[in-house]
Amino acid sequence: MIVAIDGPAGSGKTTVAEQLAKRLGFSFLDTGATYRVLTYSALESGINLESEEELTSLAKGLDLKIDNNKVYLKDTDISKEIRKPRIDKNISKIVGFNKVRKVMNQLQRKEAGGKNYVVEGRDITTVVFPDAEFKFYLDANQKIRVKRRVQQLLKEGEAVNQQEVADDLIKRDRADKNRKIGSLRLTEDTRYIDTTNLLIPEVVEKLFAIVREK
Ligand code: DC
Repeated sequence: MIVAIDGPAGSGKTTVAEQLAKRLGFSFLDTGATYRVLTYSALESGINLESEEELTSLAKGLDLKIDNNKVYLKDTDISKEIRKPRIDKNISKIVGFNKVRKVMNQLQRKEAGGKNYVVEGRDITTVVFPDAEFKFYLDANQKIRVKRRVQQLLKEGEAVNQQEVADDLIKRDRADKNRKIGSLRLTEDTRYIDTTNLLIPEVVEKLFAIVREK
């Protein structure tokens, strides 16, 4: 069974998905992490970030392993590196290429398809698993989403410029919502949940109750 969760950066979906998966006894897939690994790999290998062809072949050969909230590239744990601001700054361009997305969609379906998984991202309810048994869209107002991202970076020991974080988030929102393929959008068959005034455990509880009820 697949529980699909989409939403913008800072909506709390990664933490919620991880905790919900634990509650349900499911595995958890953060598809944003798969794009982050690709971006990290592209930056490290020095390939042309403007080239859809080069990025697509990099995606095809990506030696990526995901184990819940840990990600490995060629067996090296890069879970921390993929959360750095340099990834945030470069990722939007890369995830905008259709051929790259197709390869990544396949990788995500292969990882979670046919198993019990909570999968979160931007196009999970619409493109990757449109027929998921449960589909949620988590949202929150922009101010609180910036605040959450700042807190997350501080927790990871990063030097934080609040304005820069806000600018990056707004830029990524715009790119995510306006992509031709795989854009972030709410469909009629997906349940919308505003997390602005909710704590993480409250959101987890809400989703858990809906899944359990069925
Ligand atoms: O969820 P996140 O912030 O870690 O995602 C990083 C970037 O990857 C984000 O800017 C949008 C992109 N992304 C995507 O295009 N499709 C997904 N399914 C997940 C993430």
